[in-house]
Amino acid sequence: MSLTVADIQAPIAVEMELFEQKFRGLMKSDVMLLDQITKYIVKRKGKQLRPMFVFLMAGVCGQINESTYRGASLIELCHTASLVHDDVVDESNYRRGFFSINALWKNKVAVLVGDYLLTRGLFLAVDNNEHDLLRIVTMAVRELSEGELLQIEKARRLDITEAVYYEIIRQKTASLIAACCAVGAQSVGVDKTMVEQARIFGEKVGIAFQIKDDLFDYGTAEVGKPLGIDIKEKKMTLPLIYALNKAGFLEKRRIINIIKNESEKPKKVDEVISFVKNSGGIEYATQAMNQYVTEAQALLNAFPDSTYRQSLHQLVQYTIDRSK
Ligand code: FPP
Ligand code: MG
Ligand code: MG
Repeated sequence: MSLTVADIQAPIAVEMELFEQKFRGLMKSDVMLLDQITKYIVKRKGKQLRPMFVFLMAGVCGQINESTYRGASLIELCHTASLVHDDVVDESNYRRGFFSINALWKNKVAVLVGDYLLTRGLFLAVDNNEHDLLRIVTMAVRELSEGELLQIEKARRLDITEAVYYEIIRQKTASLIAACCAVGAQSVGVDKTMVEQARIFGEKVGIAFQIKDDLFDYGTAEVGKPLGIDIKEKKMTLPLIYALNKAGFLEKRRIINIIKNESEKPKKVDEVISFVKNSGGIEYATQAMNQYVTEAQALLNAFPDSTYRQSLHQLVQYTIDRSK
């Protein structure tokens, strides 16, 4: 039986509700255009996985308090800012099945909205002397930006190694989930070692989360049909990197040529997908993902047992079982 987000949230249901209220309040602005856009964002928000990591890890390490709420808000503001900017960077007109901010209001507005959300986060931290939380989150946002730039740099060269792939996903995805867990632990005042353990746990979960995301490109039982969007965008992910490394010289050159020159043709994208599937790329990436999850669950076992910890174990499992 697979658990829903609502099941997993049970021990922090009250906190998540209150957090959402606080978060809506934080996004308010006197500038009508901004207010209109932030309302649009709040209405179309995702599953709130990141605040869940913050609250659950705080509960695992101690007593959830006002700092935990501020940490969760800081993370969610930066995360939202990064997605608004990401759609500008990727020239994407959609986010979670709705029009993106840049699609509706143009790039210049989207860039400024992202800046606004980021500074709301900075203010929240500075006004409340949350120096430690701010340090953790700032480090993560810096890594997000570096990861994005590394990805752009490498997209031009199709010979990316597994090591580079892991570095990109560690920076662009895992750093923020790591920060969620570190912020949760830090907010309840545990020592540095425990905050660091929480961070490493989050990083492993984040890497597994992104491998799962990359596997979606090859289809799921629910969707049935592969997407191939990453291939179209020349994004080299683990299943493909593995398959290319295994292939002989001629086969490798043929596939690289398709990605380089013909990746806008659906038939050709299907050819790359079949190549990856026939080479065992899906199994290989799934195994790598499961390994990270096993390591994360083991790290979590070193924390004191509680209903929060049980939920966190479930949340880790959910990140790789989810169907979207
Ligand atoms: C989604 O990735 C987005 C990110 C991993 C983060 C992007 C970060 C930035 C653009 C820098 C943010 C800077 C500040 C100041 C907040 P994706 O494009 O691989 O996936 P998606 O579009 O499908 O979600
Ligand atoms: Mg994107
Ligand atoms: Mg992107």
